Amino acid sequence: MTDLPTLLLIHGFPHDHTLWDPQVTALSDSAHVLAPDLRGFGTSGPVPEVMTMEAYAEDLKKLLDERGVPPSEPVVLCGLSMGGYVALAFLERWPERVKALVLCNTRSGADTEEGRAARQETARNAKEKGVPVIARAMLPKVLSEHTRTTDPELSASMEAMMARQRPEAVAAAALGMARRPDRTALLSTITVPTLIITGAEDELMPLPTSEAMHQAIAQSELVVIPNVAHLSNVEDPVRFNATLRNFLSSLPHA
Ligand code: MLT
Repeated sequence: MTDLPTLLLIHGFPHDHTLWDPQVTALSDSAHVLAPDLRGFGTSGPVPEVMTMEAYAEDLKKLLDERGVPPSEPVVLCGLSMGGYVALAFLERWPERVKALVLCNTRSGADTEEGRAARQETARNAKEKGVPVIARAMLPKVLSEHTRTTDPELSASMEAMMARQRPEAVAAAALGMARRPDRTALLSTITVPTLIITGAEDELMPLPTSEAMHQAIAQSELVVIPNVAHLSNVEDPVRFNATLRNFLSSLPHA
């Protein structure tokens, strides 16, 4: 074993582990990279009616134990969007297992009443209309116009990645997100180095959301990637990876 940290990459909604393809190999010189499917997504197992952020976090804790990552070696947790919600749920419960935090295109707050109603509709639509309909509607929100016009192949592969997720997994995640608590109060308790990355064009998580997290987390750095919307790690992997590699190399060794 080298003294490289473990980097646990947590995908968003409705994604699978392939969201992190541009990072897994590229960052393998800087960390032991783990990029699992959250339960229900990709090739992972069946889900209950509702998957809370806490349940995903518990799965990840089990995964670390199964992979032999000992409690004495805290990990770098990196979550994008829903993955960020899961990262905060993990940190709240197992702060001692977290060496550093990377919050990408995410927020700490809970859903509004209106947002919760929209989640119910998403859950219903996933089962009644099918996930491809949701994927098609989400695409212009998750990729910037710049990305969609300059990289139609990436647009097609991101739509396909979202479209192939199972309706039960999508519904369970939507209902779980609706139930997540506001974790803003947690932010001021975070003492580990934290990197916040977002896209200048992200309308799902507008910039003030990331700026507020940056204000609240003492040891945090905010990086805003231009021309990029919600999927910053795939829209500009060169910039994203350089930022993350830099952050990893700044962390104290175990
Ligand atoms: C995601 O990308 O994970 C979702 O946009 C998160 C959300 O719907 O709140």
